[in-house]
Amino acid sequence: MRNILITGGAGFIGANFVYYWLRENPEDHIVVLDALTYSGVKLSIEPLIQQEQLIFVHGDICDKTLIITLFEKHQIDTVVHFAAESHVDRSILTPDEFIRTNIQGTQTLLGTALESWRDNIEGKRFHHISTDEVYGDLGLHDPAFTEQHPYAPRSPYAASKAASDMMVRVYNHTYGLPVSISNCSNNYGPYQFPEKLIPLMLINILMGKPLPVYGDGSHIRDWLYVEDHCRAIGAILESGRTGETYNIGGDNQIQNLELVQELCRLIDMSFDADDALASRFPDCPYVHGNASESLIRFVKDRPGHDRRYAINTKKISTELSFHPHVDFSSGLGLTLDWYLNNETWWQTLMSGELNDWFKTQYGQTNK
Ligand code: NAD
Ligand code: TYD
Repeated sequence: MRNILITGGAGFIGANFVYYWLRENPEDHIVVLDALTYSGVKLSIEPLIQQEQLIFVHGDICDKTLIITLFEKHQIDTVVHFAAESHVDRSILTPDEFIRTNIQGTQTLLGTALESWRDNIEGKRFHHISTDEVYGDLGLHDPAFTEQHPYAPRSPYAASKAASDMMVRVYNHTYGLPVSISNCSNNYGPYQFPEKLIPLMLINILMGKPLPVYGDGSHIRDWLYVEDHCRAIGAILESGRTGETYNIGGDNQIQNLELVQELCRLIDMSFDADDALASRFPDCPYVHGNASESLIRFVKDRPGHDRRYAINTKKISTELSFHPHVDFSSGLGLTLDWYLNNETWWQTLMSGELNDWFKTQYGQTNK
């Protein structure tokens, strides 16, 4: 039985991981620590907060006194560290919070884990969740990122994650802290905050809003269904070697424009198959005889926009036998179904801070 501290468990991947982990390991105890920033949604894990295996703590990973108390009180033996500022566009506008949370916050957790575990390091693990963006970008024909690829971050977000990865490595190398790191490609699935590409586009299509494609839409990402990411983290916690980094990806590269067109087609087909959708989402263009693709708008490109990410998954697949279970087309279908069935979840986020963000981005709210 483990006592696990999960940071950022009210965010997109953290929430999915909490559900995944408790389903697979119902005997474990989990402490979720989350500052509930704009992207932290307590509602996402509300049903689990009622269960006695899970304690929710509203707090900041930079608060050392709080972290020490949590380690002592709950006898934490495992940390799975998701908490971060995670949106590239926001990091370009306001980098400060990325430095504080992603670098200082990670260091606070590492320092506390070391002090708390120093006398009995056996069976302990600090797993740090990171991103493929630390490696920089790739040309169209470059080989995919391996774990040996040099770090070359190109946005404040990527630089802050790269710095945090380095601190995690240092705590292993210099102090012997039992760490592991995973660098994953773009995730999608339930509970993703609708500022990121896939949920933003799905919701905008349903609401009949413009679909802002940056530049010419030819940028390439590698997409992984979030539950597969959770399974990969589980495999690393179970059998991954300490001190090691594992790349995680979906072997699924696609251009942004192609992806947005696919989402449009998926929604048009759903409206064909289910008459009730037209009355629920009367502003969707398909209701008025127009393909959802008519909403696509090419907008000013993101400064320093990385052209392509791709992950070489050989290490995790050969060492830990990890392979994604959910192919892209099934994953997009599951994701659309989730957003259709959980309208209350995303409607509650569509006011306030999210609209302020759209106003900053596009000079108008997304209402
Ligand atoms: P998210 O923005 O949805 O969630 C981040 C969570 O961290 C939120 O619940 C937020 O409230 C919390 N948080 C932020 N600052 C905090 C602080 N100072 N103290 C405590 N909690 C704080 O992000 P996500 O997409 O779920 O990403 C989770 C992790 O996975 C991040 O470390 C990110 O770098 C990494 N990652 C994300 C992706 C992706 O595609 N989303 C891909 C690879 C890696
Ligand atoms: P995003 O979901 O922000 O993830 P990341 O920047 O971490 O890869 O963006 C995914 C891709 O989609 C990225 O190339 C930027 C692009 N994009 C758009 O074209 N329009 C949008 O409105 C957003 C949010 C992203």
